[in-house]
This record gives sequence, structure tokens and C-alpha cells, in this order.
Amino acid sequence: MQPPLLMLLLGFFLLPSAEAGEIIGGHEAKPHSRPYMAFLSIQDEEEKSRCGGVLVGKNFVLTAAHCIGRSITVTLGAHNIKKWEKTQQKISVKRAIPHPDYDDSTLSNDIMLLQLERNIKQTDAVKPLPLPRSKDLPRPGQKCTVAGWGRVTRDGPCSDTLREVELTLQNDSKCENLFEYSDTLQEVELTLQKDMKCNDAFKNYNRTIQLCVGDSKKKSSFEVILNICFYNRTIQLCVGDPKEKKSSFKGDSGGPLLCRNGIQGIVSYGPTDGTPPEVYTKVTSFLPWIKETMKSLQLQDPDHLLWS
Ligand SMILES: *[C@@H]1O[C@H](CO)[C@@H](O)[C@H](O)[C@H]1NC(C)=O
Ligand SMILES: *[C@@H]1O[C@H](CO)[C@@H](O)[C@H](O)[C@H]1NC(C)=O
Ligand SMILES: *[C@@H]1O[C@H](CO)[C@@H](O)[C@H](O)[C@H]1NC(C)=O
Repeated sequence: MQPPLLMLLLGFFLLPSAEAGEIIGGHEAKPHSRPYMAFLSIQDEEEKSRCGGVLVGKNFVLTAAHCIGRSITVTLGAHNIKKWEKTQQKISVKRAIPHPDYDDSTLSNDIMLLQLERNIKQTDAVKPLPLPRSKDLPRPGQKCTVAGWGRVTRDGPCSDTLREVELTLQNDSKCENLFEYSDTLQEVELTLQKDMKCNDAFKNYNRTIQLCVGDSKKKSSFEVILNICFYNRTIQLCVGDPKEKKSSFKGDSGGPLLCRNGIQGIVSYGPTDGTPPEVYTKVTSFLPWIKETMKSLQLQDPDHLLWS
């Protein structure tokens, strides 16, 4: 029998909807060197949150399904999202299509397509990135980068400028076998809370499969930890070397993981204390869905041809 504490420590951190994005151990990106990067401003009933995304067509952005909200505005061509930059193009989202099998309690199939209200105006600062080919599969050991406007330290403010970090793709077994880094996780000090506290804080909290962790007096919000490990190598990627202090903790949720062979991952979730590895959605597993969805959305728009 495993003691409850161990279960807790083995759990993964679910991104709280109020915040996303923290590049640990990275550096500021060269301004506009990643013209496909999208900044998502998400408005829900009461809270505002942010995510990253990647422009994959003239009017399509790929992101994580857990970034869904009542209304989403996409900013392209940004380096400093707090400044007015003449390179920026702000476009509202017309339709948000989360993957039909997305499960918000396990974060499986955490991928979403956003159709923009209008086409981008292609410039040096705003340019789509083609989808990878289905044979461009990710390889463990490969060096990739993730970029985002997230927080730079665990408790600090979000970054205004785009930051990036290089990460190494791991063997699936690293994410399947969480015992390998339970020593590190045990250093995290968290207080187990009553389910009620998370019920109040997160509308999707499910006490059957999640744990409520953290102290609201010390931090701004409660954290939700998955009680069960759901890593699935068919649809997910294991990213980040446990020996290096580099990660995209709390996300840059929705942001792309770029490797030499194209967009391989979408930031999904990671462990409580930000130690790698983390779980990314495996983009090559979703190529048929992405392509079919883009095609059917364009066909639904009679005015599509006017814009191209
Ligand atoms: C992945 O696992 C295989 C076989 O277990 C091993 O040979 C390889 O070195 C590992 N690769 C990495 C990057 O850890
Ligand atoms: C909570 O998770 C369990 C197990 O997956 C599921 O059976 C149940 O329907 C979920 N409850 C809600 C309210 O989503
Ligand atoms: C992993 O994902 C694939 C594709 O969605 C699915 O067919 C399979 O059942 C999943 N495996 C587990 C163990 O959930």
C-alpha cells in the first residue's frame, strides 16, 4: 500500500486556469525571431488568463485545449506584450475547437485549434509555421526549444517579453516511471486541503481523481494535483532533462515545442515544483485531426475565398 503522501508527491500539477507560463532557466528571445508565436489573452466569466500558441495557417492557431475560455484574443507579431508595437496584430478568435476527446480532468488530448476572425497580414514579424510531416517523428535525446511570455521564477510576475529555453526530449519511460524523480518532488512543501476549497476555486475540480493542494494564505491560488498518472506515449511527449533546471513550468501552456523537424509538442502540464520532465501533447499524433478540422472550418465559411 502506498501512503497518501506518496500518491500526492507522484501526482502531476494541473495548470490552474488563472495563470499559465513560466520559462525556467531560459533567456529573452531575439525580438521577432519567432514570427509564428501567438499570445492568447483569455477572458472567462470572472478571470483573465494567458496562454501561448503557434500560428499554423493564415487564420489558424494551434494551442492547448485547457486554454479554452469564453472569449480569446490572439496577439501576433509581439515581443513585449505590454507595449504597443507596430508589428503587432490583434485578432479575435471566431471559433475555438478543442479536441473532441479532450478530458479536462486528465488533460489527455490537450490540443485545440483556433480559427481567427480574419486572416493575418503576413509580415517579417507575423508568419505561419507549417505543420510537421507525419514522418517527422520526435526522437528522444533531440534538443528542442519552447518559448513563452510566462513567469520567470515560481512566485515572480509574468514576463512581458518573449523568453525561450532549450529542452531535451526524454524517453517515454521517464514520464511513465515517476518513481525516478520522487526524491526531488518530496522537497516540495504543500498542504493538503479539503476538496471543498478547490471546488470553489476551480469549476472543473473532480475529487475522485484529483487532490487539492496548497495554502491560500501563502499563495494566490490553490493547486490541483492529479491523483493518478495518465501519461500515454501514443499521444504525449516527455520533455526536459531531470538533471537540468530548465522547464516551462506552469506552462507557457499551449505554446509550441520546436525541434529541427518542426512543431513536435504543445505545452500541457508538469510536476508541482517545476522539475522536468514535463508532459507535452504529441503533435504528430494529431495531424489528421488538425488537417481535417482546418479544412472543414474553411469550407464552412462562404467568404473564405475573399480573404485569401
Ligand atoms: C532511451 O532508452 C533506450 C533504451 O532503453 C536507451 O538506449 C537510450 O539511450 C535512451 N535515450 C535517452 C535519450 O535517454
Ligand atoms: C470525476 O471522475 C470520475 C472518474 O473518471 C468520473 O467517473 C466522474 O464522472 C467525474 N465527475 C465529474 C463531475 O466530472
Ligand atoms: C493512449 O491513447 C491512444 C490514442 O488516443 C488510445 O487509443 C489508448 O487507449 C490510450 N492508452 C491508454 C492506456 O489510455
